[in-house]
Amino acid sequence: MRSTVDSAASAEFAPLRGGYRAWRDRKIAAYPKRAEELVVEVRDPRQLSAAERAAILERVGRANMAVYSSGCGDDPDKAIPRALARQFGLQRLDPNWLADDDGVSSIRVRAGVPRGEFIPYTSKPLRWHTDGYYNAPAQRIRAFVLHCVHAAAAGGETQLLDHELAYVLLREANPDWAQALLRPGAMTLPAREHDGEIERAARSGPVFSFDAADGSLHMRYTARTVSIEWAPDPATAAAAGFLAQWLADDAPFALRLKLAPGMGVICNNVLHTRSAFRDDAASQRLLYRARYYDRIRAL
Ligand SMILES: [Fe+2]
Repeated sequence: MRSTVDSAASAEFAPLRGGYRAWRDRKIAAYPKRAEELVVEVRDPRQLSAAERAAILERVGRANMAVYSSGCGDDPDKAIPRALARQFGLQRLDPNWLADDDGVSSIRVRAGVPRGEFIPYTSKPLRWHTDGYYNAPAQRIRAFVLHCVHAAAAGGETQLLDHELAYVLLREANPDWAQALLRPGAMTLPAREHDGEIERAARSGPVFSFDAADGSLHMRYTARTVSIEWAPDPATAAAAGFLAQWLADDAPFALRLKLAPGMGVICNNVLHTRSAFRDDAASQRLLYRARYYDRIRAL
């Protein structure tokens, strides 16, 4: 049965056209065993060489993500992630209302300002999620860049996991569970209210969907348990339980690393986490995050 989640409704997961099993086997065989396999050394992310660009695309082809390691160090130039992204067709930035004016968010601990109440702007851990799971379908986040300017004194590690593998494992466990999470009402975030005003409408949608434009797989997910409503049927409950259990501890295929200054992740919005961290007065963790409606492509 095809997905009915996108308006075009007829898109299929492009890699499956040649057959699911063959695609699954290739996917697992090619998937990096260690985070180091994702890392590409680049001289200047603002201006990649053809070989550096090809090396990043090769990792993205295998795992929907790559990690670059550059000589930029703690250069605070916010143009770095945007310039890198442009070289992979990423143009349409998501103007997150918490982002800085240029659409690139500075992720660091912010005490005493409203955004401090949002977990990304604290030193707390972030559970497994994909970015923009609360966005409307028209603002679907297909890719993001996370660029490290300063690392935390302790902690602040990142885990990454290709969401296509989440689909594979769920489907292997039970095809009906994968179908359940393709349904339009699988996961709902209730409206966010503040002082009686609705700041954001309730958002209902699928976990997995196939992009109408190119048939790529998208995942909308958070392992948060508070303020998430799952569709009230047994298959959805079982599927959500399976994903939560799989991701709970040392998830197979999870790749763990700590970004150092000048390093970054470019990905097709894969699953990711952040561990808790501690800042020194002398060194405050600072990451730039740019989210895009586009998907990474070879230009
Ligand atoms: Fe995130």
